[in-house]
Amino acid sequence: MNSKMINIKAPAKINLHLEVLGKRRDGYHELAMVMQSIDLADYLEIERNDSGVVKLFCNNKDLDTGEDNIIVRAANLLKNNFKDRLLGADIFLKKNIPIGAGLAGGSTDAAATLVGLNNLWNLNLNSSELHTFGGILGSDVPFCINGGSQYCFGRGEILEPFISKSDYAIILVKNPEVSLSTPRIYKKYSSAFNICDDSFISQIKYKRELLRNNGFERNDFLRNGIKIRNDLQKIVESECSSVKNALSILSEFNNNLCYSMSGSGPSCYAVFENLDLAKTSYDENYKILKEDNFEVWVCSFLNKGVSII
Ligand code: C5P
Repeated sequence: MNSKMINIKAPAKINLHLEVLGKRRDGYHELAMVMQSIDLADYLEIERNDSGVVKLFCNNKDLDTGEDNIIVRAANLLKNNFKDRLLGADIFLKKNIPIGAGLAGGSTDAAATLVGLNNLWNLNLNSSELHTFGGILGSDVPFCINGGSQYCFGRGEILEPFISKSDYAIILVKNPEVSLSTPRIYKKYSSAFNICDDSFISQIKYKRELLRNNGFERNDFLRNGIKIRNDLQKIVESECSSVKNALSILSEFNNNLCYSMSGSGPSCYAVFENLDLAKTSYDENYKILKEDNFEVWVCSFLNKGVSII
């Protein structure tokens, strides 16, 4: 008899590189990214039953737990595909990753749901099938399944994992009053930079190769001063003074190797050689972060995505 219950850790990610190559005919943007899992995570406890119903419960009452929640959508996607009317589950989500923050909080929960229910419902989906289901749910979901350090191309779903030196750590900051809509930020980016023609297509191969040769894999990207890049940052900084402020504060921290915004914001981070240096820098600067009402996390890079615990 297989177990009835499973606990899953669902880590957040940051973008070490987010480059918009152009706007595609399907409405998505063609991207060249480096995504990195971090040790800030949601936790899901999933209990299988044969009620035919998927129910979601969450410790954060701000989160909609209905049919539109990406966790419920992930479960229903699997249910509908396997056409077994008895498949049911109660899912308890402990939400630690801030919502609407550019940290893939929803995507990693969806990835955890796919992995958890694949196991509990005995669906025997292989990794490639899980990635395909992930891609249906959202562009960042496939990355979140295996996580770690990966180049993410296409709309984010074409993945090339690589090994990273995993001692690096970050100070991550977010204004709790601000959450941003990803579609709106991409739309604003396209209008601002007028990128609605197909000329980027001929550049895709070259841009991917450029990114692969950028030093991320050699783990020397920080010391050699290769710039961390996030194209959406220009847009968010101009409309969101707290992001501008966060980046300015992080830039002053001792021993920071680089700093940037994550995803479509508004979370921002600074990278340090290891967790001790990040903690020391936090101790030196917590007052200024507190004065400006930032929520703060100090955590390490993680070399994996969702995991059964
Ligand atoms: O794929 P996902 O549902 O997570 O994307 C959310 C929104 O972000 C999309 O509807 C789209 O507006 C924008 N997006 C984009 N290009 C991408 C990924 C996301 O324009 N590559």
